[in-house]
Amino acid sequence: MTFLVFIGSERESTPPHPARLGERVAKACALRLTANSAPNELVDPLNIELPNPFKPHFSYARGKAPQALERLARQIEAAAGYVMVSPEYNHSMSPALAHLLNHFGSSLFSYKPSAIVTYSAGQWGGARAAVNMRTYLSELGCLPVSAMIHVPKAHEVFDQTGAYLEETEADRWNDYLDRTVKQLLWWAEAAGRQRIHSGTETPEAFTKAPSQRNAPR
Ligand SMILES: Cc1cc2nc3c(=O)[nH]c(=O)nc-3n(C[C@H](O)[C@H](O)[C@H](O)COP(=O)(O)O)c2cc1C
Repeated sequence: MTFLVFIGSERESTPPHPARLGERVAKACALRLTANSAPNELVDPLNIELPNPFKPHFSYARGKAPQALERLARQIEAAAGYVMVSPEYNHSMSPALAHLLNHFGSSLFSYKPSAIVTYSAGQWGGARAAVNMRTYLSELGCLPVSAMIHVPKAHEVFDQTGAYLEETEADRWNDYLDRTVKQLLWWAEAAGRQRIHSGTETPEAFTKAPSQRNAPR
């Protein structure tokens, strides 16, 4: 069971300092997955060359999508679940994360759970973005687990490796992060068993009719 941890930021420029708080938060989540015996991979939008102008993965002829899209599609399909790490932009989820995910439609994510993780440089921890991420991720087919993670002032919590800046706070944060991680693992295991039990395959890409979307064959 491998999990993908999506970094929802491409912001290399400063100010505000430091750049890409999202990298710290995503690495912290990856460390908690590892601590809970869950293999995981970071998905960094900075390493993925997206087609410009926009064209989703499923609208290419089979096997003819740009390599970066093809590679990520295979990763998404093989994963047991997803951790979506997002900052807040105008009380909504990160445009970088939405732009990346929108290339893949719903079929590759179907019948797998996701976890919502938001953060901010300020005091609300991205909680307002998290609310509309539920709707978005449900439509994407990877239903979000109920527990969410919100990290206010993320630059005061994690260093660049995802380690805690205040070791005395580690237990408190680990308990908080693990509640979501454990829900994600529980649902991923349950969904994985059911996919095998029912012979559910990755649904066809939603290219013709809405009835193709997230419907078991
Ligand atoms: C256009 C814009 C809108 C923003 N809106 C919000 C917001 O609604 N709430 C918030 O907490 N931060 C907001 N921010 C701040 C970013 O979330 C913050 O810079 C965050 O650290 C970005 O993530 P990153 O550091 O991983 O790139 C906004 C920033 C920009 C540029």
